[in-house]
Amino acid sequence: MTFKQKETPHIKPNGVEIAETILLPGDPLRAKFIVETYLEDAVQFNSVRNMLGYTGTYRGKKISVMGTGMGMPSMSLYSWELIHVFGVKNLIRIGTCGALQDHMNLYDIVFAMGASTDSNYVHQYNLPGQYSNIASFALLEKAKKTADQKGLPVHVGNVLTSDIFYNADETAMEKWRKMGILCAEMETAGLYMNAAYAGVNALTILTVSDHIIRNEQTTPEERQLAFTNMMEIALELA
Ligand code: HPA
Repeated sequence: MTFKQKETPHIKPNGVEIAETILLPGDPLRAKFIVETYLEDAVQFNSVRNMLGYTGTYRGKKISVMGTGMGMPSMSLYSWELIHVFGVKNLIRIGTCGALQDHMNLYDIVFAMGASTDSNYVHQYNLPGQYSNIASFALLEKAKKTADQKGLPVHVGNVLTSDIFYNADETAMEKWRKMGILCAEMETAGLYMNAAYAGVNALTILTVSDHIIRNEQTTPEERQLAFTNMMEIALELA
């Protein structure tokens, strides 16, 4: 039994269970969409700051879904509380990214095997060198097998978790592109560090919502609803 009566400044579940596996979209309305589309017996466990969170079942397995907001500070505080206060063990971010490589297209799926970053978040650990932010291999392997079974092609590699959406240095993305970084997003490195420090599992699955180099975009409506392949891979990790 994993019933938790605990609460934090940002998550007040009022006794509703939070599952050991949670899907973490950035947008809380995407969390609601996933729950309404895929889950059975769903109960809402959070509404603080409209950061909607729910627990339900997917094909008989218990799973939670909750928004994280944008950027590492937001992702990091929610994932920290989920891990340390509510005992969550498998954290799967599902989000969008801006592609950096020529061979990538809008709606492609990316598994973040690693997450490079321009953030200072790692400084809190006082490590005597550079740290590599990496995904849980167990989750990555399972996600890859699921994608293969569904016949969905995916890119697996290093992404950039950036603190900066509007960068004054217009050369920055080209430098990351040259290092083989697949795409830019703003949350994964914080999630991976929190998970590593706590000894739990994390994986980020992304869908390309824009192409930074070619200046191509999807619309906000498409971002909220059109990423079903990514969601269906993530749900199989329950
Ligand atoms: N940059 C950072 N984060 C993003 C982007 C981007 O271009 N697209 C979607 N998330």
